[in-house]
Order: sequence, then structure tokens, then C-alpha cells
Amino acid sequence: MSEIIMRPATQDDCADVYRWRNDEETRRASFSSAEIGFVDHQKWFQKSLADPERELLIVESGGRKIGLLRFDRLNDFSREVGINLAPEMRGRGFGAKVLAAIPMTDLLIARAKTNNIGSIKAFKKAGFNELFDYQNKAGDQIQVLAKAKELR
Ligand SMILES: CC(C)(COP(=O)(O)OP(=O)(O)OC[C@H]1O[C@@H](n2cnc3c(N)ncnc32)[C@H](O)[C@@H]1OP(=O)(O)O)[C@@H](O)C(=O)NCCC(=O)NCCS
Repeated sequence: MSEIIMRPATQDDCADVYRWRNDEETRRASFSSAEIGFVDHQKWFQKSLADPERELLIVESGGRKIGLLRFDRLNDFSREVGINLAPEMRGRGFGAKVLAAIPMTDLLIARAKTNNIGSIKAFKKAGFNELFDYQNKAGDQIQVLAKAKELR
């Protein structure tokens, strides 16, 4: 498997991220599963790029874009991470590899629907631990996972 590269997303990535986001499996995995129109996506994308509390990274491997990592700052020491691979890159072990390659500077929190087995497995393989699960307002059962920077 080629090296994993992560770089900040730019406006040029808007259409790819839109395609990955509206994929059926992604929508099933998301907390808001409605299909999104391109104009609404563009607004979300631009707002996200400008948001100091959010970081969008495009992941590349072998010269191809393979997915998106989203980080939302929770507080001084923790961020929530989300991952969405391009549909054609799923099921090949990239998920765990990408998640394991995130530079650890703090505490990373992740949430996944408990029926998203592939996602939970990928997070655990990348060193995340299951903390607890809860039911959200929409009635979905959500698993919370975390990974902390190693103590020296
Ligand atoms: C979730 C995601 C990041 C996982 O990455 P991936 O590279 O596709 O993961 P893999 O195919 O390597 O699967 C990881 C593991 O889960 C297993 N798995 C995948 N789907 C499964 C399923 N439906 N049931 C049981 N096991 C499953 C795989 O066999 C693999 O197990 P292994 O490591 O023991 O071989 C990726 O599929 C994705 O982006 N999906 C859409 C968006 C999404 O769900 N994001 C996460 C939201 S929290």
C-alpha cells in the first residue's frame, strides 16, 4: 500500500467531497442521512474551510484522493474526528491505516453508529478504544471511541 499523505482541503476539493458525502453508505453512517444539494454542500464546505474550530484534510495515496478527515475542536485538549473514504476506496483496509496515520497531538474522540461495524473496527484497529454508547435524539445508538496521545 502506498504512503498516506494528508493535506488541508481547498476549494478545488469541493466536488469530490460532495460525491463522497452523498454516497448511500456514507449517508447511512451519518447522523443526518438526508441527501444534500450541491449548493447547500458548497455553503457548508466554504464555511468549514473558514472555520477556525474545524479542519478538513484530504487524504491521498498513490497519487489519488482517497478520502476526507474532519476535525472539530471540542476544547483545549480534544478534537472530534470524522472519516469518509471515497466509495471506490472502501473495503481495502485504508480506513484503519488513515486513522492510524493521524499525528497525535491531543485526545481524539470519534462517534460511530453501533451498526457501522466496519467503521468501529477501523477505529479500534487504529488504536481507538470504545468508551460507551448512547442513544441520540434521532434514536440511533452511537458508540463513542477515543485515542489519546501517548504519555512520555
Ligand atoms: C468506515 C470506513 C472509514 C472504514 O474504512 P475501510 O477501509 O472501508 O474499512 P475496511 O473495509 O478495511 O473494514 C475494516 C474492518 O471492518 C470489517 N467490516 C467492514 N464492513 C463490515 C460489516 N458490514 N460487518 C462486519 N465487518 C465489517 C472489515 O472486514 C475489516 O475487518 P478486518 O480489519 O478484520 O479485516 C469507510 O468504509 C468509510 O469511509 N465509510 C463511509 C463513511 C463512514 O462510515 N464513516 C465513518 C463514520 S463514523
